[in-house]
Amino acid sequence: MVGTGPKRQPSRKGSMADVPHDLLGEIKRLEDLFTVDTAKLKAITDHFISELAKGLSKEGGSIPMNATWCMSFPTGHEQGTFLALDMGGTNLRVCEIILPEEKGEFDIIQSKYRMPEDLKTGTADELWGYVADCLQQFIEYHHEGEKLDKLPLGFTFSYPATQEYIDHGVLQRWTKGFDIEGVEGKDVVPPFEAALKERGVPIKLTALINDTTGTLIASNYTDDEMKVGCIFGTGCNAAYMEHAGECPKLEHMNLPPDQEIAINCEWGAFDNEHKILPRTPYDVIIDKDSPRPGQQTFEKMIAGLYLGEIFRLVLVDLHSQPHVQIFENRDISKLEKPYSLDASFLSDIENDPFENLQETHDSFEHKLGIKTTKPELELIRRLTELIGTRAARLSACGVAAICKKKGYKTAHVGADGSVFNKYPHFKARGAQALKEILDWEKDRDGKRLGRGRDPVEILPAEDGSGVGAALIAALTIKRVQAGNTVGVKDVDGMLEGCAPMKGK
Ligand code: BGC
Repeated sequence: MVGTGPKRQPSRKGSMADVPHDLLGEIKRLEDLFTVDTAKLKAITDHFISELAKGLSKEGGSIPMNATWCMSFPTGHEQGTFLALDMGGTNLRVCEIILPEEKGEFDIIQSKYRMPEDLKTGTADELWGYVADCLQQFIEYHHEGEKLDKLPLGFTFSYPATQEYIDHGVLQRWTKGFDIEGVEGKDVVPPFEAALKERGVPIKLTALINDTTGTLIASNYTDDEMKVGCIFGTGCNAAYMEHAGECPKLEHMNLPPDQEIAINCEWGAFDNEHKILPRTPYDVIIDKDSPRPGQQTFEKMIAGLYLGEIFRLVLVDLHSQPHVQIFENRDISKLEKPYSLDASFLSDIENDPFENLQETHDSFEHKLGIKTTKPELELIRRLTELIGTRAARLSACGVAAICKKKGYKTAHVGADGSVFNKYPHFKARGAQALKEILDWEKDRDGKRLGRGRDPVEILPAEDGSGVGAALIAALTIKRVQAGNTVGVKDVDGMLEGCAPMKGK
């Protein structure tokens, strides 16, 4: 369970006693730049709430608030065998998921494939060909010699997509450093299906989903207090269940106002108009040099893809200042290479337990060829704390905004992603920020805060892009079979030859 205060490493006190004046001054300047105080957190959250509503309006706003056509939480009794394909930022994962009779249970087999870096900026044909090859390999390996009917597939495509139907999705824009020509503005399903057909792979795409929607549904499958699904990983985003009556942009669908529909917020786009977020000059450079300047303002301050780059830009900037003595007379050419440091480099520094920051010293030497001094190490450590803390506190604004919009006084929020799971103190720092924003006085059970469970807790999620994708495929088939075909394009295809496989 997540407590309310950041847990300090007891083994390291740290001391700035030997840090010379110029570096101390810079540390102070960085603290001012990167610290987001309670008042600012609250102001960001309030603006966030109005932007969530704007995204649901007919006019729209900068947060897309995409309707997903996932129309209910699972009951826990979904059954069958499903395939799931996860195309996230770094890896491609293919899974077979068995939902057995027992409530909330599942079995999973999976294979991971590294996404080749050059695929991210290659051609659409190469992308879909690679994805279809991985699926084909998976099926040939796990079902060798079997005669298969069409297998239902939940495809987790973790990019903003406009969905008029659950088996359709027009890519709004690439994020997370992807830049493949000829995909934006088009439905991704036909070229994907064509690549499968070309290879004779017996698969029926049943649901195209976002990783956050999968996280929401998978988490709720095992814990029905889970009301929000978040990803804090290479990218960052959230999904939650909204009432159709709160979505003016869906008015033309004539859904009952209390009909539930999962909304993929795509909150990475929050504040693209730069009204409220405390952006630093480094955030401005990240945006300017990215493949999509002006997009994903919130994400670029929080997500794993950018944390290492923010850190790197600060250090290079300090080195270039004549009045700051950092890495003087040392070769920093390796540090000058954009995106040469990832978030795990920062995690390792924050995790360094030694008073003299020996591990940090060694990683600077091994990775960057820079021999660091003790004062430089103190600055480096403080900088990672500032960047990591800012990311966690800003993330909490999004969570608080959804809870406030929905009127949730208590809730579980399912979170996944490398930053949430691996970045030191991210959970505790986020919990601390939630406490400040939501003005809690007591914990969930009316006891003093910090003793038990916080009213809103961000907890590790179930596997959204595996189990979640399978569940959404199951829920879709179930509702189509029951005659509810709203938001489904290929109704016949879904009813024919796409019965969920029987559990083995
Ligand atoms: C994408 C979202 C996704 C998030 C986390 C963002 O860059 O736009 O669709 O949910 O990353 O993977």
